[in-house]
Amino acid sequence: MKKWMQFLVLITSITSTSALLASGGFSEGGDKKMPTVANAKWKAECSGCHMLYHPGLLPERSWSKMMLGLDKHFGENASLDAATRDEISRFLALNSADKQDNRRSSRINQSIPTSAIPLRISETPYFISKHDEVPATTFKRKSIGSAANCVACHQAAEKGDFSESQIRIPR
Ligand code: HEC
Ligand code: HEC
Repeated sequence: MKKWMQFLVLITSITSTSALLASGGFSEGGDKKMPTVANAKWKAECSGCHMLYHPGLLPERSWSKMMLGLDKHFGENASLDAATRDEISRFLALNSADKQDNRRSSRINQSIPTSAIPLRISETPYFISKHDEVPATTFKRKSIGSAANCVACHQAAEKGDFSESQIRIPR
């Protein structure tokens, strides 16, 4: 992006943020929390093998790529019929990190190079920088399993709340 374009984007986002603040769109400190979102098919189909990942954790291009490759989903076959898949895809796209106003989603989105399409939240630069003090051996604990199991340490992860007061690392 050209410098002057970045400047325009910055000004636009500051303006829309203050408009939201002025209208009381954010509760105090609430701008970090992702909004509550729900879709019955998403809840039913995407929580069988792991926690529900808030759509605000990845940009739309990541969700689209993932939803088109469900037959080879991290070594599992998570295929869906076309209608269900399309409904969930629309829901994820509508609420994705690049369509969100909350600060957390914007930071995740901004951390990903525009040329990259990560399928793992746990491999985004934002995630890596926020967890650089958590040793790899901690993520591998039996009580945790892997970095993908956010809810093991972030008790309110499925609600899109990753605030520090909600962190507890199991032994
Ligand atoms: C049949 C089991 C299964 C189903 C159903 C399933 N997944 Fe997964 N998913 C996995 C496995 C296994 C992993 C890798 C977990 C790990 O590395 O610990 C994974 C990983 C992920 C990750 C990456 C997590 C990270 O940051 O490392 C995302 C995002 C994800 N799944 C989204 C979805 C969505 C959206 C759906 C519903 C359309 C879904 N999954 C349904 C098995 C499943
Ligand atoms: C082993 C436990 C553990 C797991 C699993 C884990 N986290 Fe964290 N996370 C932490 C700790 C500890 C911090 C706080 C680091 C600090 O304050 O320096 C943190 C910080 C964060 C923050 C920043 C909080 C803030 O306000 O500064 C976000 C966002 C976050 N994690 C998201 C995730 C997501 C998304 C996942 C799953 C894909 C995940 N975490 C998995 C332990 C974990």
